[in-house]
Amino acid sequence: MKELLQKLHDAAMQAILETEDVDSLESLRVKYLGKKGELTSILRQMGRLSAEERPAMGQLANQLRAEIEQTLETRRAALNEARLEMKLLQETVDVTLPGKKQPQGHKHPMYNVLDQIKDIFIGMGFEIVDGPEVELSDYNFTKLNIDEGHPSREWTDTFYFTGDSRICLRTQTSPMQIHAMETRPLPIRMIAPGRVYRKDEVDATHSPMFHQIEGMVIDKGVTMSDLKATLNLVVEKIYGKGTVTRFRPHHFPFTEPSCELDIQCHKCGGRGCPTCKGEGWIEVLGAGMVHPKVLAGCGIDPDVYSGWAFGMGLERLAMGEYKITDLRLIFENDVRFLEQF
Ligand code: PHE
Repeated sequence: MKELLQKLHDAAMQAILETEDVDSLESLRVKYLGKKGELTSILRQMGRLSAEERPAMGQLANQLRAEIEQTLETRRAALNEARLEMKLLQETVDVTLPGKKQPQGHKHPMYNVLDQIKDIFIGMGFEIVDGPEVELSDYNFTKLNIDEGHPSREWTDTFYFTGDSRICLRTQTSPMQIHAMETRPLPIRMIAPGRVYRKDEVDATHSPMFHQIEGMVIDKGVTMSDLKATLNLVVEKIYGKGTVTRFRPHHFPFTEPSCELDIQCHKCGGRGCPTCKGEGWIEVLGAGMVHPKVLAGCGIDPDVYSGWAFGMGLERLAMGEYKITDLRLIFENDVRFLEQF
């Protein structure tokens, strides 16, 4: 019996040391030491031994079992370690290899211009506000003192929702004046950039969707000279110091008085060239003093408060800045075009 035990021990030890795989260690344990394993079946024969022989044999069996178990453990640890090392080896990254170039996009040129404008106004203490593109006609027209018969309300000019002229796509960012006056505490200094929509056919200077930046100041004692000084400053920041401006009388229903701001063509200095279409001046924006009726309609007392507002087209500004001659290029998202900026 002693020999049997010794044989089992040797066979087990050899099998354990020869195996290269952690999982098969478990099946070796079951085979040799398990409940129905080889050791158990040898020990079953203990009954045949004399009472004197039994303790010694039991002790030997225990000692051999301990040895086998110990070896199983050591082998398991060694195999696990080897497996980890192999994995690490396979997964090493050679940091000296050149990387794969990821083509990276960049901001659309028009949004670069917008960022520049935002920076200028933030620097002057203005807030940037955002509002709905789907707008109530009340806000797009009525509250801006645009009466029922005004041509801009026509179905041929404005996108209305089917069968309902109460809701439209905003045709200007000016409804943001109303939203700001209705919701913000006074005084207000804000700009509101965003998309606007008009029923225009697409050509080199028109698009049914384009961008405007609305600006507005409401406070006590605000005058037209504040408007002129502020806009002159903005123009100098965009077009350079010494840019000559011209405020031309105009009409908007929601401002009184109203004006348009032109800059003297920065290409030809006013002599006339293709950039200014021979006129010497380039129209930049519409502006004016917020109409007392509009103030009152928003619950602001026009005898106490006054304010000015302006609205400018962002595309035109970007086209001037980047010498883009066709508006369509701005919206087509052709990377061959956009890559240039
Ligand atoms: N909303 C006007 C337009 O689209 C521009 C404007 C804004 C004029 C604010 C005066 C004051 O033409």
